[in-house]
Amino acid sequence: MKKRIGLMTGGGDAPGLNGIIEATVRALAHHPIELVGIRDGFEGIYNGSTCSLTPEVVLNAHASAGTLLGTSNKSSTKGREEEFLKAFNALKLEGLIAAGGDGTFEGLSRVIKGVKLIGVPKTIDNDLQGTDVTFGFDTACAVVSEAVDALRATADAHRRVIVVEAMGRTAGWLALGGGLTSYADAILIPEKPFDRDALKAHLLKLRASGQRGAMIVVGEGAFAKGESARIAFRVEGSPQADRFGGIAEQIARWVEQETGWESRHVVLGHLQRSRHPTTTDRFITAAMGVEIARMVMENAWGNAVVVRDGLVTRAPLTDIMKPARLVDPEHRWVKIAEALGIYI
Ligand code: F6P
Repeated sequence: MKKRIGLMTGGGDAPGLNGIIEATVRALAHHPIELVGIRDGFEGIYNGSTCSLTPEVVLNAHASAGTLLGTSNKSSTKGREEEFLKAFNALKLEGLIAAGGDGTFEGLSRVIKGVKLIGVPKTIDNDLQGTDVTFGFDTACAVVSEAVDALRATADAHRRVIVVEAMGRTAGWLALGGGLTSYADAILIPEKPFDRDALKAHLLKLRASGQRGAMIVVGEGAFAKGESARIAFRVEGSPQADRFGGIAEQIARWVEQETGWESRHVVLGHLQRSRHPTTTDRFITAAMGVEIARMVMENAWGNAVVVRDGLVTRAPLTDIMKPARLVDPEHRWVKIAEALGIYI
């Protein structure tokens, strides 16, 4: 008899999720395993909404963004632990493969005693512990980098400063990675509150040197020294209810007022999540799918598939169920940016 194993994608989507699904299904195709897709993250468990995952269903899914299973970053298990376990047991699954970010794993940590789990860390924010990198980050980083490169043309044409807002919540990886690889003039991340006077002096110096336009990349959770992050709105019931936003617009207005340099802002928003995955993310997810299949066959529940020293491997699930992994202000990327004359 085939073992029934669930596969679920939870939290905000990340490029590469479909790669995980396709690779896992393909790698398990010749084993006595029935893979059951859970629709819309935790919602599918609560509602018993599932689908059959066969090689025919997932063929060539790897190339697209989103997740063919659907996802949700709005529901949690908090206060619903019993309901969750009852619903999960009703699905008659031997175990669950769950791709998610900190919200998903925080939710799963509440029911971990009743669910055999294999964790698959994913987020464009790159802020999960226990893995060197999360898939989706490279693709989102490319979106930021390409946007800055493209916007520089109009910034230069109009002699303007353009402030580009990157996602990332409390972590500055996306702003830092995208800003560094596009050689932005300034990068503002939550982990290093910026100094308004120093940023102003930096911009005035660039302008005095004859530079026509300037590009600033700001993480949505960034803030100036002595200030705090801007929360745009809250999604009640979401494991991480605060939604950040508004800092780029605020900085653009401030730059114009303080320096006289005309300024605009661009919020990249969900474009960062909705791009077909880069080859780097595809390598990671293909290798992860194969490792997940091995873990299923070896009954290696209670583990996560992670990237360590450039290799896809496995580690205890508890390694990824930790508070967000933030940018160390001494990180080598920060040092490289500083050496390039970028304000950070
Ligand atoms: O965690 C991923 C992420 O894209 C964050 O970078 C961002 O702050 C948040 O999700 C946006 O959430 P939503 O899709 O609910 O707007």
